[in-house]
Amino acid sequence: MGNRKTFSSLEVALIVLTVLLFCTSIGFITMLFILENTLREDSSTTTTLPPPPPSSSQTTLKPSATTTDAYPHAYLIGAGRADCTGLLADIPLMGYASGDQLAAGLHTRQYSRAFIVAEPDGSKRVVFVSADIGMVSQRVRLEVIKKLKSKYGDLYRQDNVILSGTHTHSGPAGYFQYTIFRLTSQGFSREATDAIVNGIVKSIDIAHAGMRRGRVFVNRGILDKSHINRSPTSYLRNPESERARYPFDTDKDVMIMKMVDMNGVDVGLVSWFAVHAVSMPNTNHLISSDNLGYASYLFEQAKNEGSLPGEGSFVAAFASSNLGDVTPNTKGPHCTNTGLPCANPTSTCPEGGVTTCISTGPGENMFESTRIIGEQIFEKAMELYNSSAKEMLETVNFAHQWVDMSNVTVKLNDTHNATTCKPALGYSFAAGTIDGPGLINFTHGMTEGDPFWDALRDALLGVPSNETTKCHQPKPILLNTGEINGSIPWHPTIIDVQIITIGSLAILAVPGEFTTMSGRRLREAVKKELDPSDTKNIDVVIAGLSNVYTHYITTFEEYQAQRYEAASTIYGPHTLSAYLQLFRGLAKAIAEDTVAELPKGPEPPFFNESQLPGFFPNIFPDIAPTNKTFGSVLVDVQPLYLPGEVASVTFVAGNPRNSVTYMSNDTYLKVEKYEDVTAVWHTVYIDASWETRYYWDKGTGGQSNATIEWHIPSSAAPGIYRIRHFGHRKRLFPSTINPYEGSSSEFEIRRSIRLPCHYLYNNAALYI
Ligand SMILES: *[C@@H]1O[C@H](CO)[C@@H](O)[C@H](O)[C@H]1NC(C)=O
Ligand SMILES: *[C@@H]1O[C@H](CO)[C@@H](O)[C@H](O)[C@H]1NC(C)=O
Ligand SMILES: *[C@@H]1O[C@H](CO)[C@@H](O)[C@H](O)[C@H]1NC(C)=O
Ligand SMILES: *[C@@H]1O[C@H](CO)[C@@H](O)[C@H](O)[C@H]1NC(C)=O
Ligand SMILES: *[C@@H]1O[C@H](CO)[C@@H](O)[C@H](O)[C@H]1NC(C)=O
Ligand SMILES: *[C@@H]1O[C@H](CO)[C@@H](O)[C@H](O)[C@H]1NC(C)=O
Ligand SMILES: *[C@@H]1O[C@H](CO)[C@@H](O)[C@H](O)[C@H]1NC(C)=O
Ligand SMILES: *[C@@H]1O[C@H](CO)[C@@H](O)[C@H](O)[C@H]1NC(C)=O
Ligand SMILES: *[C@@H]1O[C@H](CO)[C@@H](O)[C@H](O)[C@H]1NC(C)=O
Ligand SMILES: *[C@@H]1O[C@H](CO)[C@@H](O)[C@H](O)[C@H]1NC(C)=O
Ligand SMILES: *[C@@H]1O[C@H](CO)[C@@H](O)[C@H](O)[C@H]1NC(C)=O
Ligand SMILES: [Zn+2]
Repeated sequence: MGNRKTFSSLEVALIVLTVLLFCTSIGFITMLFILENTLREDSSTTTTLPPPPPSSSQTTLKPSATTTDAYPHAYLIGAGRADCTGLLADIPLMGYASGDQLAAGLHTRQYSRAFIVAEPDGSKRVVFVSADIGMVSQRVRLEVIKKLKSKYGDLYRQDNVILSGTHTHSGPAGYFQYTIFRLTSQGFSREATDAIVNGIVKSIDIAHAGMRRGRVFVNRGILDKSHINRSPTSYLRNPESERARYPFDTDKDVMIMKMVDMNGVDVGLVSWFAVHAVSMPNTNHLISSDNLGYASYLFEQAKNEGSLPGEGSFVAAFASSNLGDVTPNTKGPHCTNTGLPCANPTSTCPEGGVTTCISTGPGENMFESTRIIGEQIFEKAMELYNSSAKEMLETVNFAHQWVDMSNVTVKLNDTHNATTCKPALGYSFAAGTIDGPGLINFTHGMTEGDPFWDALRDALLGVPSNETTKCHQPKPILLNTGEINGSIPWHPTIIDVQIITIGSLAILAVPGEFTTMSGRRLREAVKKELDPSDTKNIDVVIAGLSNVYTHYITTFEEYQAQRYEAASTIYGPHTLSAYLQLFRGLAKAIAEDTVAELPKGPEPPFFNESQLPGFFPNIFPDIAPTNKTFGSVLVDVQPLYLPGEVASVTFVAGNPRNSVTYMSNDTYLKVEKYEDVTAVWHTVYIDASWETRYYWDKGTGGQSNATIEWHIPSSAAPGIYRIRHFGHRKRLFPSTINPYEGSSSEFEIRRSIRLPCHYLYNNAALYI
């Protein structure tokens, strides 16, 4: 880039955009700075959690089942599920880091699913939670732990509770305290955070209240068609001798934990499978739990027969694992403009660079891809559930530490130590991935910076120190997040490492996205510590996106390739080695029963919420078109549909943000069928149903539409139906939020000509 370089209009636009982005950041920092100054009296920017209010539920600590004691040596088990769907509008979705991918409706609901296992005497217990969210943030974690403490005293704590996210990229953002995550979230949202925190706590409450004697089984199997490695050239950097031990460049294992009570009643399932929950791409605006959420949905529908989604006692979680380099978009990377493969080391196309190199599939569209991947994982888990025989017995255990991850000394060998680095993101972070590409001026594998962006970075964020620059090599630093001054850090430095064990199953809670080989090394290291003689048949599983989010963790060798995952390994090339060392320490303590001697480590900061501003648009008072009211039908259904068709109705709507606190565990829509015998309308589908979609069109000046679609399945019974919509509208004078509802006209479903002959015969007159 010479000095006499002229800029194309595209380039100018890009530069303007970038400068705007950085200006936003600067505005943000300025605001935080001002806030900090106005808060100067609070000498400290971090606060410890206030003491819990007196608990009202201490009496429920021991489940009543313990007193019956027909099975004194059986575990106490419980499972619970609660809605954690929050905002459906005006908030960016979390995952693709695209500030303009705003939520605008709902496909499937988000749930938190909690599982508790206690030793037979009820004293020692562990909790595993999987929530349909992008990742668990430190803010969510600290708020959940605080609420659990106020409800249960010391029963549920940071060391025996794991919180894991499924990594759906179609849930709302806004629940983070560190700056970088707030930049793409339009700030911090109390409403987004509350929905998740309350849902998680409620799921634990339900699991706790339902605890009873039961059995826990583990099983594993192979699923080989539902994912591919999205950075195979990085994987190839790992030593050949190591790669030779594994048949694939992704982990094909599905690991399940099954819970059954002593009466043989099915209680719950947790399945772990390494795949990104990104079958829904960055063009989607509907809240969705994606492929893993759909697997949960199918399993729960199968076990809770006759229940609507989100109801029924059986709880099935499909949790995340070492999915760092694993995509469900199995058609592989192709150039969107030519259709040709772009599986080169930089993931670029001749035209458009990284922005046009995208992977989709296996379906023809995002809904079909989500369905296919979800079904495959569900079917494998069901097969493993049905055939589980390996029983976990009597013990549970756990170990946890907080660690300053920016300053861990790693022992490489007897003569050499290495250290982790202050957090920073590399150039190829901005290239994004084949699941959701980034900016045109970046590619994968960038091991050198660019004078233009370096200068911009230096001017806006400051010059990275030589020490940090050297520490991250060969990563060229794009965002020196660990060295930006301000009251709130851009990235966490204090993170959780945690293991819980249930019998011979060890669950490792990792604070980010481990790649395939990173995960293999971690599992192997932990297994060796837990079972040095290799006689105990131990199963080790990685629970991804747990407790606090720190992006990616690649192996040292993959790090050298500097694709997206390596550029996003924020603590530098020795990050994985540090985790191996830390998790070995936890495992050793469990194996040797010395957990009590582990240092707790430095407590993570809990920032005052007044320092976490949100920049969400004001909610206009809602306005209905002339001569219409809220819930009025603008475009009605047709009188007749066949299975396989889509019934659609458009209503005058209010902004769904008005509904957020009212619609938890409720529904924005119902598909109702008229029952002739009882002469009542019976709800057959709700907004959590796979078959329904709620699209919200924001419009302008407070006028908005809700379009409800029902994708009529082939199983739909013939009869008379209607579609109803529920919402809330905001009024200015008086300033209130009022519920409204509307209903489509009635319509009929008839059998299609695809159905069996006897049926066709009976209805012949209709079709011939
Ligand atoms: C959610 O609503 C259903 C139906 O009203 C109810 O049965 C269930 O108990 C509720 N669940 C929670 C967690 O509140
Ligand atoms: C698992 O068992 C259930 C009955 O509990 C049965 O309906 C289902 O077909 C079985 N599925 C598989 C894959 O074995
Ligand atoms: C890093 O850790 C070492 C001990 O391992 C400690 O002496 C040093 O002060 C720490 N540095 C920072 C910046 O926290
Ligand atoms: C120890 O590790 C360093 C850095 O990787 C390496 O240069 C050195 O050769 C190693 N020493 C031994 C004895 O393996
Ligand atoms: C490596 O670090 C450990 C722990 O901080 C220290 O005891 C040891 O002396 C160091 N070894 C070398 C070769 O620097
Ligand atoms: C950004 O990419 C465009 C299109 O490839 C290119 O023309 C331009 O020179 C690049 N700008 C910078 C600052 O690298
Ligand atoms: C941040 O603060 C440190 C210490 O006060 C200072 O050395 C450094 O230059 C500052 N960085 C920026 C970008 O202002
Ligand atoms: C940092 O590195 C640059 C270039 O290598 C050098 O010119 C500069 O003096 C170094 N700064 C410090 C404080 O060592
Ligand atoms: C947070 O900041 C607000 C506003 O300055 C202040 O009133 C409040 O006491 C602070 N809260 C804590 C827990 O420090
Ligand atoms: C609203 O209703 C009034 C009275 O029925 C009618 O005169 C008017 O034309 C309607 N306006 C519109 C825009 O439909
Ligand atoms: C609502 O739907 C009507 C009928 O299709 C359409 O004319 C109108 O533009 C839509 N309004 C918004 C805000 O999308
Ligand atoms: Zn990811």
